Parts: sequence; structure tokens; C-alpha cells
Amino acid sequence: MNPLSLFREQVQALARAGVDSAEADTRAIFEATLSEPMYMWPREIEPDDVWEIEAMIARRASREPLQHVLGKMWFYGLELGAGPGVFCVRPETEVLAKWAIDAIGSQPAAVLDLCTGSGALALAVAANTRGADVVALEKSQEACAAARANAESLGLKVPVIQGDALIFNPQWEAKFDLVVSNPPYVPPRQLAPELDFDPPQALWGGGDDGLDFVRGLVPLIYRYLKPGGRFGMEHDDTQGEAIREIARDAGFANVSTISDLNERPRFVVAQKPLGECR
Ligand SMILES: C[S@@+](CC[C@H](N)C(=O)[O-])C[C@H]1O[C@@H](n2cnc3c(N)ncnc32)[C@H](O)[C@@H]1O
Repeated sequence: MNPLSLFREQVQALARAGVDSAEADTRAIFEATLSEPMYMWPREIEPDDVWEIEAMIARRASREPLQHVLGKMWFYGLELGAGPGVFCVRPETEVLAKWAIDAIGSQPAAVLDLCTGSGALALAVAANTRGADVVALEKSQEACAAARANAESLGLKVPVIQGDALIFNPQWEAKFDLVVSNPPYVPPRQLAPELDFDPPQALWGGGDDGLDFVRGLVPLIYRYLKPGGRFGMEHDDTQGEAIREIARDAGFANVSTISDLNERPRFVVAQKPLGECR
């Protein structure tokens, strides 16, 4: 079968299913199956490949995320495994990774990633800094296994600890130079069908504003940081003001908001005051 006519058919199938990124997703599925970029596709596609492409398109048409269909995802230039039970890291989280990497620079630094999921943030920081010693924490057993597998396949030494981020760990008191987190923070609202495939505990932050989890987490982060240490956390674009207040109430200084690439306020960053003990 001619690849371009099959390609056009499959783009239409995804568009009919309401997938906004129909063309890009179809192309990714073709390229993964044929192991070649579009300009290298053969004149004819083998029947087995046609069957595989159609099966993957059908999964995507049922609104399964592209990352699950491909079994992989990319974050900050790293290839990570993807599948059911583990949150699919979103491209906008790269802004938080960049903030952390720039904040650390080439200095030695103890870094903690709370609610690490696939390990994306922790691994991006470890892969792109020289002196960072990164530890990751995650509650879900499936996500811990995925994060450990990702660390291993990338050859990065990032211990992934299974635990509840809302329970204070006294061994971490004043131990970290930087804490990052993309915790559950989604407020109650209707979500795109793809989000049905993310584990619910990765999404919902609790309470009317989605910030119950964050309210529990931020004071613990304050205690984990050394004086002068910094923290950065992702949030919903409706939560900027409330989360800055949560950070100030916990004792943080230099509290500000960073926007994502679409100019939406999505990340709070702050610093534990130098020389202050609470
Ligand atoms: C929004 S996802 C983010 C995952 C990852 N940081 C990322 O950016 O792709 C939130 C993660 O928090 C984890 N989580 C939920 N409750 C937790 C808790 N009490 N302690 C630790 N991790 C938790 C979920 O399992 C999920 O992996």
C-alpha cells in the first residue's frame, strides 16, 4: 500500500475522532512503525506495518494518549518509557526543569524532586547539571518502577524513594539546596478525554481550588531546604495568586511566578531566607 494515501486516510480518522493534533500524531505513529522519518518512507508499506499502524491509530482515536500508544515520551531531550498507571509528563514542565537547571548551574547541589512520576524532572536535572546530587520521591509503586527503569536506561544515578510526600521525613530537614515538584494540583473541572488515562492521584489536588495537596506540601519543602535554598513548583494557571500566598505563609521570600511558553502563569518559585530558622 502507498504510504501517503494510508497517511491521509489515518489523519482523517484521527481528525474525525476529535484529535486536535491528528497530523502530527499520525506522523509520529508512522515514523515509529517504519523506523524512518517521513522523507525516507518506502514506496510501499508491508501488510504487517499497515496492520500495526491501523491498530495504533485506533487506540489514539479512542483518545488514548499518544505517549501510551508509542510506549515512550520525550522530556528535555530524554527518552522516557510511557504507559498506563504513570503520569505522562507534559512539555510545559520543561520550563520548570530549565529553571532548576539554570538555578543550579555548575555548582554542587543537593536536589529533591517530590512526586516524581516517571522521574522526568529529576532525570532532566541530573542529566543537565554537573554537580547535582538528585533524589526523587513518589508514592505510586508503578510510577516508582517506571522512574527507576528510566534512570537505569539513561545511565543516571537518581535514587527513587517510594513514600508519601505529605509525611515529613526528618532525615531531610535542611538538607537540600533546591526542591522541585509537579504535584497533583488540578482543581475540580471537566478534563480532555486523554486525561482519563492519567492516574487520578496524579491529577486532582483536592479542595475547591485544587490546592489542598500543595497546602500540605509547601511547609514541608520549606523544612527540607537549607537557608537560601530555592523551590519551584508547577500549578494550574488559575492558582498563581493563591500559591504565592501559600509560599509566603510558609516563610518563603522572593516569591514569584514564571509563565509557560503560552504566557500562562504556571510555576511558583521562591527562596528560603538566609539565616532564618522557623
Ligand atoms: C502531576 S503528576 C507529575 C509527575 C512528574 N513530576 C511529572 O512532572 O511528570 C503527580 C505525581 O504525584 C504522585 N503523587 C500523588 N500523591 C502523592 C503523594 N502523597 N506522595 C508522593 N507522590 C504522590 C502521583 O503518583 C504522580 O506521579
